[in-house]
Amino acid sequence: MGSLDSPRERERENGNGNGGCRSPGDPKLGDGGMIVVESEAMKKRRASMLPLEVGTRVMCRWRDSKYHPVKVIERRKMPSAGPNDYEYYVHYTEFNRRLDEWVKLEQLDLDSVETVVDEKVEDKVTSLKMTRHQKRKIDETHVEGHEELDAASLREHEEFTKVKNIATIELGRYEIETWYFSPFPPEYNDCVKLYFCEFCLNFMKRKEQLQRHMRKCDLKHPPGDEIYRCGTLSMFEVDGKKNKVYGQNLCYLAKLFLDHKTLYYDVDLFLFYVLCECDDRGCHMVGYFSKEKHSEESYNLACILTLPPYQRKGYGKFLIAFSYELSKKEGKVGTPERPLSDLGLLSYRGYWTRVLLDILKKHKGNISIKELSDMTAIKAEDILATLQSLELIQYRKGQHVICADPKVLDRHLKAAGRGGLEVDVSKLIWTPYKEQG
Ligand code: ACO
Ligand code: ZN
Repeated sequence: MGSLDSPRERERENGNGNGGCRSPGDPKLGDGGMIVVESEAMKKRRASMLPLEVGTRVMCRWRDSKYHPVKVIERRKMPSAGPNDYEYYVHYTEFNRRLDEWVKLEQLDLDSVETVVDEKVEDKVTSLKMTRHQKRKIDETHVEGHEELDAASLREHEEFTKVKNIATIELGRYEIETWYFSPFPPEYNDCVKLYFCEFCLNFMKRKEQLQRHMRKCDLKHPPGDEIYRCGTLSMFEVDGKKNKVYGQNLCYLAKLFLDHKTLYYDVDLFLFYVLCECDDRGCHMVGYFSKEKHSEESYNLACILTLPPYQRKGYGKFLIAFSYELSKKEGKVGTPERPLSDLGLLSYRGYWTRVLLDILKKHKGNISIKELSDMTAIKAEDILATLQSLELIQYRKGQHVICADPKVLDRHLKAAGRGGLEVDVSKLIWTPYKEQG
């Protein structure tokens, strides 16, 4: 799947990913191509390292044939193998966790093994990456009522989720490689592939089970109300309370592509906005976002996902724009739940930048952050951060002042990329959520 690799490719293109790259000299080729016989001592040294310990840092040959630094996360014995025949689950330290994978010993350059591992630095990094839901979940399950993060619980979470459990899923006409661990019920632990019904999102272990299910399943779109239709695109609102199983299935599925989000067992509290591409076979899920029915922190979006086959086509920005259109109808400002993933941050930054630049470009005279916020439903802090990153803000006499030089705006607009798919507000038929009964 091209989109799955693109962040990595992009990182490589602009040079960021190359910092730790090197091709170790072939140990058997000396200067001038002379064959050098490997010393017994070297062979012994290598053998003494095996099997490698979890936590070892070493260089690993990746699909691009280059070597990148990795940390060994887990190891497993190969079936019917010798005492040192292990496969290693590695994390490429320069890249996102979605690229973690099982590798064979021959991909590792044993001459590069580092012996000292600084676990404390690692702990600090992971402790910054919690979502409110994780905190809540961990508080509920481990340290009831405790408001602060518990480092031990965090480590436990990292430990539990460190290895991807499901490698691929089948969903509609796509087979999709997964990115992260998802806590499917224990009876699915031995599956590397899961088969999803693309309409009700029930998942099965075997293809035949899915085929049988498809003959019986009468859904052709997500359950709930169709609140938007424009051409072949439809958006459905699914109430987690009324469609609990669907909500849970969607969370299991989404977690395969979302790191640092815990699963919501309390789907009752959420609405799910599911975007579909529709044809004569039914409405095929493209992506979704979830939204709390009531948010004290003015979150207008909890989790957002575009399924990998549909990524980089503007659907993410469509979903983001849609979440702000709902906020406008509610008469509130909104912001996404933190932390944002790398791709989440890129998409939001892109969206905020384009929306704000478009307004500044058209607007005559001064405009305040509050006015921008009222027009867009984007929270003032997000507007300030975006304009600051674009260097369009100055701090004068204790106040933030927007300085929008038309030439600078044009330059930023050019750099801001495509606008994403437009939401046609006239096609949105929706009233804000009200508790019933
Ligand atoms: N590499 C580089 N830039 C990227 C990539 C990528 N692989 N994917 C998205 N972007 C950036 C680009 O700037 C892109 O705009 P451009 O194509 O005009 O340059 C912008 O993000 C948005 O692109 P879209 O096509 O509108 O978004 P997409 O449909 O790909 O969805 C999303 C973005 C939802 C973040 C998707 O990447 C995804 O589902 N990721 C996995 C789940 C995730 O991380 N969700 C966010 C978590 S945070 C939260 O939920 C609050
Ligand atoms: Zn079904």
